Amino acid sequence: MSVALITGPTSGIGRGFAEEFARRGFDVVLVSRDGARLEALAADLAARHGVGCEVFVADLAVRADVDRVAERLAAADRPISALVNNAGFGLASSFLDTGVEDEQRLLDVLVVAVMRLTHAALPGMIDRRHGMVINVSSVAGWITGGTYSAAKSWVTVFSESLAQQLEGTGVRMTAACPGFVRTEFHQRAEIEMTALPDFMWLDAPAVVDQAFRDLAVRRPVSVTGLQYKAISGVLRNTPRAVSRFATSLRGRNPRFNPKH
Ligand SMILES: NC(=O)c1ccc[n+]([C@@H]2O[C@H](COP(=O)([O-])OP(=O)(O)OC[C@H]3O[C@@H](n4cnc5c(N)ncnc54)[C@H](OP(=O)(O)O)[C@@H]3O)[C@@H](O)[C@H]2O)c1
Repeated sequence: MSVALITGPTSGIGRGFAEEFARRGFDVVLVSRDGARLEALAADLAARHGVGCEVFVADLAVRADVDRVAERLAAADRPISALVNNAGFGLASSFLDTGVEDEQRLLDVLVVAVMRLTHAALPGMIDRRHGMVINVSSVAGWITGGTYSAAKSWVTVFSESLAQQLEGTGVRMTAACPGFVRTEFHQRAEIEMTALPDFMWLDAPAVVDQAFRDLAVRRPVSVTGLQYKAISGVLRNTPRAVSRFATSLRGRNPRFNPKH
């Protein structure tokens, strides 16, 4: 039985990935901080899909926890054939107002954990000539939306570069770059989103479905929805000055701003 390890499966996009891998018959390793939610998800997936579920409580901002997950990924006797680096969060304030430890946590979860877990997973996948890595990034990586954008930009370029290097190895990688998705993300970060029009919201299953379809055709960057394909096409092909201006317009609308 193939095994998929998913970080951040207790809600939102990660939950969608856990559901889809289980539906496809993969056993799953579920990694996040909330043990009770992980256990409930594992019981639910096992009951509905008849797959094996391993619960792995870990805070990906803590190096020792990341190392334990990395060890599990590298374990040759229980090989992992799919890794989804999905866990993440946003910060409610700009860099100038955020404590440095919160900025460190953001970087640790969104970047350092992604790098270390991918580094642990790839050698075994390459030896077995089979595997897939999905890194959940964001269209925010193409705008100048603070340190979150900078981190997601890293994830996208990292994934694109590795997808290229992995050609011919049997291992596939893609960066899933969604726009706004209805999850717990904005509520957890206390980001007010009432002004966002309905057509700009995506659902997690659509993001998951798009990532699988893009992985199947070896597309290194996966964007869900016509509206975001158009927006990202523009953002990726316009001068940076234009994307800086567009980002500043969003910043001037108080209804898109975090509560302080
Ligand atoms: N929602 C959007 O609009 C949107 C758009 C583009 C990209 N994204 C990206 O999508 C990914 C998933 O976010 P989501 O929207 O699905 O948000 P979500 O519903 O809040 O889910 C976040 C998941 O990450 C886990 N997590 C957070 N911090 C963690 C930590 N320190 N260690 C381990 N797990 C941690 C949470 O689990 P526990 O609480 O159990 O630890 C939860 O399962 C993130 O990388 C986010 O940046 C989201």
